[in-house]
Amino acid sequence: MSYQTLTVVALTQETADTVTIHLERPDRQPIASRPGQFLTLILPCGPGGKKERRAYSLSSTPADAPRLSVTVKRVPGGLVSNYLLDTVQMGQQIEVMEPLGNFTLAPSPKAARSLVLIGAGSGITPLMSMLKAVLAGEPNSHVLLIYGNRNEESVIFQQQLAALEASASGRLQVEHVYSQPLQPMAPHRHTGRLNRTMLLRILEQRHQFPAEQADYFLCGPEGLMAEARAALDLLKVPEARVRRESFLAAADTAEAAAGQPNGHGDVSANAADEVKTTRTVTIQYEGSEYLIEVPKGKTILEVALDQDIDLPYSCQAGLCTACRGKCLSGQVHLDEREGLSDSEMKQGYILTCVGHPMTDDVVIEIG
Ligand SMILES: Cc1cc2nc3c(=O)[nH]c(=O)nc-3n(C[C@H](O)[C@H](O)[C@H](O)COP(=O)(O)OP(=O)(O)OC[C@H]3O[C@@H](n4cnc5c(N)ncnc54)[C@H](O)[C@@H]3O)c2cc1C
Ligand code: FES
Repeated sequence: MSYQTLTVVALTQETADTVTIHLERPDRQPIASRPGQFLTLILPCGPGGKKERRAYSLSSTPADAPRLSVTVKRVPGGLVSNYLLDTVQMGQQIEVMEPLGNFTLAPSPKAARSLVLIGAGSGITPLMSMLKAVLAGEPNSHVLLIYGNRNEESVIFQQQLAALEASASGRLQVEHVYSQPLQPMAPHRHTGRLNRTMLLRILEQRHQFPAEQADYFLCGPEGLMAEARAALDLLKVPEARVRRESFLAAADTAEAAAGQPNGHGDVSANAADEVKTTRTVTIQYEGSEYLIEVPKGKTILEVALDQDIDLPYSCQAGLCTACRGKCLSGQVHLDEREGLSDSEMKQGYILTCVGHPMTDDVVIEIG
């Protein structure tokens, strides 16, 4: 895992509570990234200057190199978002991990596809990166963005989106949905909640986006994701065409506890009862092998970090997959599996930040 120190080279105030931070390496060398990936910022803003990590999706595209940009929205009471919005300044040095994440899209000049991006609030960030990359790199593809906000003033990238739409010769359509609009409604502006009824209404009018053949990327609060999934089910959109990313753990929803056990990882709710005792776990990472004792109630990542084993991680909530490993033997219970696809689960991938060993023969390969 590579760590770097980047310099803040520009700041853009997007809305009253959102800022875009533009970062570059001091030598201005580009850093590889894919549209939709995130950057992990490591900031000394914890108690006593303790370093805290948070994931922020890149709102830039690889074409913006050497610049990487992240767009941070203030979360009331939140440690890192408030620290960033209140203190970030030009020239500041910020430690980051290399861009990570599988919620990505690879533009291909020959592709002629229909992409439907559905997001709300700060969930626009990875979608913005994707839509810019597709407009620039896929001349025959079309993008529909359905973007929910409280009102016109909370729209992140308002002007950029309008400019992109105006210059895209019909290849980008943006539908704004406001729960509490300030202005009377105009074309491509909708009032109400961004729920399944609203989505169906918008999607059914867009004949150039045939429901079953479009590709869907969702990023927003859990409620929106559930509504979007319900709408897409009604439109008979195959699961394989829908990708999603969450910024916040759905820890208190039934969804977090649900999941299918597989050969190695197990995320079933009842499995937690079996996490009873201290278990030995073997970790293989960057050519070394570590043996750790993981007591009940601790995650594999927590114990490894306590022992100064510098494993990769970012969100610590089972969302971003920065801590992903492959379970080569034994069984691991996951408190949360949002970040892992069904196919990754079947292949035995686990997340150490939410993983608890259930047997004494657990071997995890990282990287
Ligand atoms: C893959 C990934 C990509 C992300 N990309 C972005 C991005 O592009 N822009 C961005 O602004 N954030 C993004 N986030 C969220 C970001 O990582 C932080 O979680 C967020 O900034 C809150 O951190 P904090 O330290 O301010 O709040 P914390 O101190 O961690 O949390 C304080 C309280 O706020 C709640 N909370 C945390 N996040 C949210 C939220 N988003 N909405 C409502 N309540 C919340 C927590 O549950 C907690 O109760 C992303 C997260 C992930 C996993
Ligand atoms: S650190 Fe993000 S999923 Fe584990």
